[in-house]
Amino acid sequence: MGKTIGIVQHKGGTGKTSTTLNLGAALAELGKRVLLVDLDPQADLSAGLGVDVDTVRSRPNLYTILASEEGSIRGIITPTSWPNLSLVPGTLDMADLELYLSTQMGRERVLETALAEVADDYDYILLDCPPSLGLITVNALVAADYALVTAQAQPRSVRATERMLSAIETVRRKLKHPELKVVGVLITMIDTNNVSREAAMVIREAYNGQVFDASTTRRVRVPEDTLYHAPVLAFAPRSESAAEMRQLAGEVIKRVEGGQR
Ligand SMILES: Nc1ncnc2c1ncn2[C@@H]1O[C@H](COP(=O)(O)OP(=O)(O)OP(=O)(O)O)[C@@H](O)[C@H]1O
Ligand SMILES: [Mg+2]
Repeated sequence: MGKTIGIVQHKGGTGKTSTTLNLGAALAELGKRVLLVDLDPQADLSAGLGVDVDTVRSRPNLYTILASEEGSIRGIITPTSWPNLSLVPGTLDMADLELYLSTQMGRERVLETALAEVADDYDYILLDCPPSLGLITVNALVAADYALVTAQAQPRSVRATERMLSAIETVRRKLKHPELKVVGVLITMIDTNNVSREAAMVIREAYNGQVFDASTTRRVRVPEDTLYHAPVLAFAPRSESAAEMRQLAGEVIKRVEGGQR
């Protein structure tokens, strides 16, 4: 059975979506069967991969499946142009899911239930979460075996990461999911300025053993996924950003499949 990793951070714009896409591509490049799930109502991951979010909305989609508990995730999986990499597209309607679920029994477990049927079809399922600690993120953490926390190399990130890790602990305890592990903290978008470099060092010290050796540097090519509708590994395979993601994929595989954590 495959492993599910929630890419989380309640702070916005810390590289969750870019990491989901490019880590997914790097794992796929190593022959892993990878499914990306776009849980964010902003649907950036889907738009980045060239999916027309209005078309998604007009058909059975993740929102209709999670809200009605009818229909099948397998039926809405879309291939991407990158081998071994598939996508469950997001929809703007996911914004309504939080409110809908808030009155439902078992509100924290609808995603886990929906994903169960495809768990055997993939080696890795990566969940791109919205920047919040709401029910969508909680559903992702309940469905996940691991959480990967993106910590942007900025002074405020330590506090945000602290809060995120404590939310993970709460899910572990209160939602009876003690197996949930933090696969690692990824420092993202390190800038050339001293403030950013210093922040990266502070994060690395604060979470010592949990921080990946791999980190991402702010580079102009990464946001071009919106132009090419593809991961950076596809349109700039020899770029340093692609290399960073390959290094991350190697560490994730080691931590998940090496059984040390
Ligand atoms: N290494 C990088 N270098 C330059 N730009 C980057 C890098 N990583 C991400 N970005 C850009 O920074 C912005 C935020 O990244 P991303 O969308 O991945 O963050 P996010 O955490 O998913 O945001 P949100 O919280 O809004 O979902 C995007 O425009 C993205 O293209
Ligand atoms: Mg995002």
